[in-house]
Amino acid sequence: MTTTIRTQVGILGAGPAGLLLAHLLQKAGIDSVVIDGKSRDEIEGTVKAGIVESPAARVLAESGVSDRIYREGAKHDGIEFHVDGNAHRFDFQDLVQKSVYLYPQHEVLTDLIAARIRDGVPPLFGHLAESVQDAETTRPRIVGTTTEGEAFEISADVVVGADGSGSIARIPVCGSQRNGHYREYPFAWYGVLAEAPPSSDELIYSRSEQGFVLISTRDKNVQRMYFQCDPLLDASTVSDAEIWDTLQAGVSGTTLKQGPIIRKDVLRFRSFVAHELRKGRVFLMGDAAHTVPPTGAKGMNLAFSDVLWLNQALRSFFATGSEALMDAYPENALQRIWKAQHFSYWMTSMLHIAPDATEFDKLRSLGELASVTGSRSAQAYLAENYVGLDYGVGDWD
Ligand code: DHB
Repeated sequence: MTTTIRTQVGILGAGPAGLLLAHLLQKAGIDSVVIDGKSRDEIEGTVKAGIVESPAARVLAESGVSDRIYREGAKHDGIEFHVDGNAHRFDFQDLVQKSVYLYPQHEVLTDLIAARIRDGVPPLFGHLAESVQDAETTRPRIVGTTTEGEAFEISADVVVGADGSGSIARIPVCGSQRNGHYREYPFAWYGVLAEAPPSSDELIYSRSEQGFVLISTRDKNVQRMYFQCDPLLDASTVSDAEIWDTLQAGVSGTTLKQGPIIRKDVLRFRSFVAHELRKGRVFLMGDAAHTVPPTGAKGMNLAFSDVLWLNQALRSFFATGSEALMDAYPENALQRIWKAQHFSYWMTSMLHIAPDATEFDKLRSLGELASVTGSRSAQAYLAENYVGLDYGVGDWD
């Protein structure tokens, strides 16, 4: 027995991209069904990055998801770069009159899921998609099984793959899951959550001979910190003492406040852009369409750009039957995707030392950092990208 659900838009993935799209479509009277193989607890408990750009915060608040970000998020008006122990502050308010919000992604997810429940259309958790069929017909389908072992099928006018970096929707769209532009990096981040008070009011991105260190925060009791490591390192093999030594060596001018480490993980670095973002009636967005390395925390912020372009295209399609904006979706979305790819790559390469770096490479990147910190125009360029470029597409009411 297969349960068939009929909807206008079938969305794979109850992450930030899929949930925001469902919310915006509903505001235009378009029905959607969001499915995810994971449970609600697993989704809300996943540790992800903590920075929400100012345009992303506006979308969440102004579209009626929640304004909790403005009430409970911490507004950050700048960041620090520490280069071999010398601190430089980027003053976002002075440079571009904008800020970012320290508001962990699981809080955004909590708000988005609460909004779906509030609006009477909860996501279907525990619904694992196995394939997307009939992309090039007017009735594409998502086929899968629930965690209880029941077969289901979602029959839609449009299917959206917002199913993350292991996306199965990529198969009908790109021909395979790996079909895209790739860049691998010879390093990763070792990430920790520690129960300790904050060591700094603002985020510190530090580059020294020891490698990269990032001091971030979650709230007044829990801190998020990262240091550069080998991508093959097993997180469980590093002792708490070694972690504190490495972090402290990276930020010599700041004394870190220590406490119990409650989580350790290794984050792989990769840049990826799928070769195609659309095949017939199936579209990709968010991590299903692209991956950025974590430096600068662009992942979710970039996903919202895809959401806004696709929301505009689908609203137009369901209102008029015209596919013009659906046709334009890949080109529109890719403009920001490549800008964010560049920014994430640039922040990464400027602040890390590759294991095979030559003396020339190291000195050149110090020259680059001196150029950026020493020029108001360059600082403004970094700030403009860090706080978030305007999305350039509205339709969120
Ligand atoms: C965080 C992660 C990032 O990648 C970043 O650039 C800044 C902050 C974080 O998890 O807090």
